Amino acid sequence: MQYRKLGNSGIEASVIGLGAWAIGGWMWGGSDDKDAIRTIHAGLDAGINLIDTAPMYGYGHSEEVVGRAIADRRERVVLATKCGLIWDEERGELRFRADEKIITSQGPIKVYKCLAPDKIKWEVEQSLRRLKTDHIDVLQTHRQESTTPIAETMGALMELKEEGKIGAIGCSNATPQQMEEYMAWGELSVDQELYSMLDRNAEESNLPFCRENNIAFFAYSPLAQGLLTGKVQPDREFPEGDQRHYKPRFSVENRKQVLDMLAELQPVADAHQISLAQLAIAWTKARPGCSHALVGARSEEQVRENAGAGEVMFSDDEIAMMQEIVDRHGHRID
Ligand SMILES: NC(=O)c1ccc[n+]([C@@H]2O[C@H](COP(=O)([O-])OP(=O)(O)OC[C@H]3O[C@@H](n4cnc5c(N)ncnc54)[C@H](OP(=O)(O)O)[C@@H]3O)[C@@H](O)[C@H]2O)c1
Repeated sequence: MQYRKLGNSGIEASVIGLGAWAIGGWMWGGSDDKDAIRTIHAGLDAGINLIDTAPMYGYGHSEEVVGRAIADRRERVVLATKCGLIWDEERGELRFRADEKIITSQGPIKVYKCLAPDKIKWEVEQSLRRLKTDHIDVLQTHRQESTTPIAETMGALMELKEEGKIGAIGCSNATPQQMEEYMAWGELSVDQELYSMLDRNAEESNLPFCRENNIAFFAYSPLAQGLLTGKVQPDREFPEGDQRHYKPRFSVENRKQVLDMLAELQPVADAHQISLAQLAIAWTKARPGCSHALVGARSEEQVRENAGAGEVMFSDDEIAMMQEIVDRHGHRID
């Protein structure tokens, strides 16, 4: 496993992180806590030290499960969580409506984006309690909003850092302009953005910005939520309550297109004796500016496989060959 620095924070984290969204169950058709805890332990034993969660992932449930799993091994973990999506108060900007299982326009729960200083500080206390710890290594603003100036948000984050409650500050789903503003008011160490073979907008914006400004880039959903593993065949069915049951990206037509692309990438995987999931993750972490890949996993087997991608290094020829294939297919897949 390779480890890379998070900006100037002094923190080093494994290039493969374990994303704990699915572990919360919400939007993923439920989850089993015992499996989740075994998955976290297997990930740590395989060299992953970065775990990314958020209060939103199961309305605190993902954080609680992560907290239980790491209680006796906290010092081995770079613990990343988020703030700024709230459901206990109507404040800030309405982001979506949901129920306890999934986002739905008729859902009884209203989720707001709110990055007001007092709310962030309140959220951090809730996260610390659920995570059973006295400090969060990386706190990221989950989504950006327009009702609180970034100067005020960053002011609160810097105070939390000075108090030792957080070790490094990150943002997510942000533009380079928003990152510039964070940087004007404090120290920004991490940016977390959607990035995979199928989602490459960051190449024109956040990736070069992070590279130039020594900000760690956490790629989220690098397996395109499982599509890039080759295990989402046209006949696979996702249960209600799993976002993939509803998403146009998981249409049979898209699955076939992705499988065609993966078939062309298979020889590179074979040459390294790795799986397609490992190839997709290793491709992501090899991209210029992309320092870490946050990969979700539901089982010990998956997390061990994903951690294995941390060892893979491609030659320049292989990178060029994969680039041509991904360029040709990736942009056609919605
Ligand atoms: N900041 C944000 O707004 C944001 C948004 C999204 C995600 N994230 C973060 O990024 C993390 C990763 O993203 P993600 O969970 O959306 O998607 P992902 O990592 O692309 O895909 C994860 C899913 O793929 C399947 N999978 C994983 N490893 C596999 C393997 N080796 N073989 C076969 N299937 C495998 C699992 O689902 P099945 O087994 O059910 O198929 C798993 O839940 C999240 O957990 C979260 O921490 C952040």
